[in-house]
Amino acid sequence: MTEKLNGLLKEALSELSKASAKEAVLLIKAKYLGRKGEIPSLLKEMGALPPEGRKQAGEAINRAKDRLEEEVEKALSSFQEREKEEKLRKERVDITLPGRRIPPGGKHPVTQIMNEVEEIFYGLGFDIEEGPEVELDYYNFEALNLPKDHPARDMQDTFYINEEVLLRTHTSPVQIRVMEKKRPPLRVIAPGTVYRRDSDITHTPMFHQVEGFMVDKGVTFSNLKGVLTLFLHKLFGEDTGIRFRPSFFPFTEPSAEIDIRCVICGGKGCRVCKGSGWLEILGAGMIHPGVFRAVNYDTEEYSGFAFGLGIERIAMLKFGIDDLRLFFENDLRFLRQF
Ligand code: DAH
Repeated sequence: MTEKLNGLLKEALSELSKASAKEAVLLIKAKYLGRKGEIPSLLKEMGALPPEGRKQAGEAINRAKDRLEEEVEKALSSFQEREKEEKLRKERVDITLPGRRIPPGGKHPVTQIMNEVEEIFYGLGFDIEEGPEVELDYYNFEALNLPKDHPARDMQDTFYINEEVLLRTHTSPVQIRVMEKKRPPLRVIAPGTVYRRDSDITHTPMFHQVEGFMVDKGVTFSNLKGVLTLFLHKLFGEDTGIRFRPSFFPFTEPSAEIDIRCVICGGKGCRVCKGSGWLEILGAGMIHPGVFRAVNYDTEEYSGFAFGLGIERIAMLKFGIDDLRLFFENDLRFLRQF
């Protein structure tokens, strides 16, 4: 019996020393120590022994069992330790590696110019206001001194939603919305998106304008000239040539268009300025009495000037872009240049 026990123990220990994985150790454990394993089976054979020998044999079996269990545990924990190390090694992160950069977005060139214009007028004490893009005929036309049958409505190819509702064709309706709510003194700019049924290299059905106006007692055409000259000098440079030309808008009287010396050719005449040496930049004028009447301002007490400009046109001139449609194609190769 003792011999058999020692034989089994030796065999088990030698198998254990050759085990190459946790699974092998578990198999050895089952084979020798399991409920029907080799060593517990010896206990059954004890019945054949004389009573004096049984105690001794029992103790010997238990010792062998304990010894083997201890070795099995050692083997298991060494495999577990190895597994853990392996896992840690695989999951190791190099904290000295630089992070992956998330490329920062950039502002669209139209937004950049819009911001620049806002910045200049904000510095002159103008407030920034907004109005709806889906507008009533009343605000877009009627209240701006453009009654239903007025021929000047043809100047703006309108997207109508129904008889009374349309997509605003300019930011001028914000003048009316602001003056309806507030009393002078007013210094306001209204940047925003406008819509017209028009599409070619210099026109897109959607584009951006900034409207501006100033109303108070005693505002004159020299205020208009002073503010807009200062604005254009800030935007295009202090020695940019500027000229005021008489023009017509239904909502101003007198009206003017304001040109700058061509930024492309310096005034010699080129394709961009169509040989004239000048570029039209702003529409402006003294607010028409009909407009003041629509908002119940006393035309004897107040006067004011208004102006409007197209943002894309300014962006094209400042960045030297010759096709307006590039702004709206969202080609990153184009947009990344700004
Ligand atoms: N609303 C005009 C347009 O879209 C631009 C304009 C001209 C606005 C003269 C004004 C102005 O306020 O006084 O063509």
